[in-house]
Amino acid sequence: MEQQFSDLIILLASGINQRRMYFDNHPNVQAISVEFVKKLSPMLNEAGNDEFAFGVYGSKFIRNGKYLVGPSIAGRSLIEFAERLQCGGFVFRLPITPTDLVAFFRLGAELKDKLDNLQTARALFASVGLAHIELATPFTEDSEGGSNQQLDSEPKDQGDMDFLATDFAPLLRVYHSLYETVATNNLALSGDNSIDLAQAQSRGEELVAVSDQGALDVMQFMRYPDFDSYSIGHSVRVAALGALLARELAWPRELQNEIATAGLLHDVGKGKVPDEILFKPGRLSDDERQIMETHSVLGAKILLANGESNPIVLSATWGHHIREDGGGYPVMPPWYVRSSATALIQVCDVFEALTAARPYKKPMCPRRAYEIMIKDKGAFHPLMLGALIRTLGLYPPGSEVVLSDQRRAVVVAQGPVPDQPSVRVTHDESGQPLERREQPSVCLHQEQGLQITEFMQVGVEAEEPAELASIV
Ligand SMILES: [Fe+2]
Repeated sequence: MEQQFSDLIILLASGINQRRMYFDNHPNVQAISVEFVKKLSPMLNEAGNDEFAFGVYGSKFIRNGKYLVGPSIAGRSLIEFAERLQCGGFVFRLPITPTDLVAFFRLGAELKDKLDNLQTARALFASVGLAHIELATPFTEDSEGGSNQQLDSEPKDQGDMDFLATDFAPLLRVYHSLYETVATNNLALSGDNSIDLAQAQSRGEELVAVSDQGALDVMQFMRYPDFDSYSIGHSVRVAALGALLARELAWPRELQNEIATAGLLHDVGKGKVPDEILFKPGRLSDDERQIMETHSVLGAKILLANGESNPIVLSATWGHHIREDGGGYPVMPPWYVRSSATALIQVCDVFEALTAARPYKKPMCPRRAYEIMIKDKGAFHPLMLGALIRTLGLYPPGSEVVLSDQRRAVVVAQGPVPDQPSVRVTHDESGQPLERREQPSVCLHQEQGLQITEFMQVGVEAEEPAELASIV
């Protein structure tokens, strides 16, 4: 049930994001508003409730005193909307209609500045006839007018959070700081063009430190794709993946740091590509494609102009669209030798683009992404591709799976065989969640007869893209 409510929050954020790209009557906007209403009613009926409420506190979603990890990453547009409205959360009441939702998405997409106070925000909602969506009072104020009990207290202490949130709380802070670094740099490019290289470097080091704790931690960044700002989330995820692979390859610490920094900065040139091209859903025209393809060279120039002198970061930015066989772009001069570091970023870049959710495409499961990458002969450095597959396996850490005895589990690490990872069992045979301390760790390689029967997280059998380059 909680997962379904989390999905609803992500759906609301996606609705705002879709409305930013399109218009009220666009099928994507309409479909999300209809889907929300269709899902909400039976869920509330089942829960014996007539309202769905959740809070926003400290840039995170909260429900029933617990931080919601996935939505807090994936639903950033909704968090920012709440912050601009100066409210502490939202309450959705039956009988809400798709028309209400579209109005909500429109406000979320169009409201650019922070309002003076909650009263102004409530007046704004009333002026567009939003009677079934209430704005809750902020947690820091007296809860006068905030009618929902669930929103009237700050989240409880760490011990009260679910296991993933507890594990993830420090990681969320790292994710947000990485995100801010990439976003601030992108934003700077529309103004004075000065980007903060020192900050990107220290964030890269922070990320490598996180990867010391294990693949599961870093993979949380991949597990919750960011629908709102996928070009920013993309860089964060490429950096996370790059750090993980560099570690798997036992590259020196200094190089791991440089890889993470290169991941954060490799697409910085996209800040100079017009939004209508950058965010165009679907295929680019030849002219648009040419403009898009300038981003790697532009990125390297921007870094140089800002004083970047690290050859790993510069060459990865300049050459991350060059293939192993020399194809791709920019045209490779005869003297250019592609470094292993650039080859590593290229593998991470394509894998992330294939497996991430975008507003216009569903995520692809890792197995299918591997197939496509292996089939594209000459595209990737075989050692780097091998390291990717070895590190993530068929079920990357963080994947939720169902075992053959009906128990549910989360993958924590790869095993010696790709389809037999180590898992932590989170739910018993009847679907009841287990307390964190009662969750057994199981190495499927050592358990005869126990296997994975279902892959629940991240990934569908998506259509194969005509060209890999078209989705990166
Ligand atoms: Fe790129």
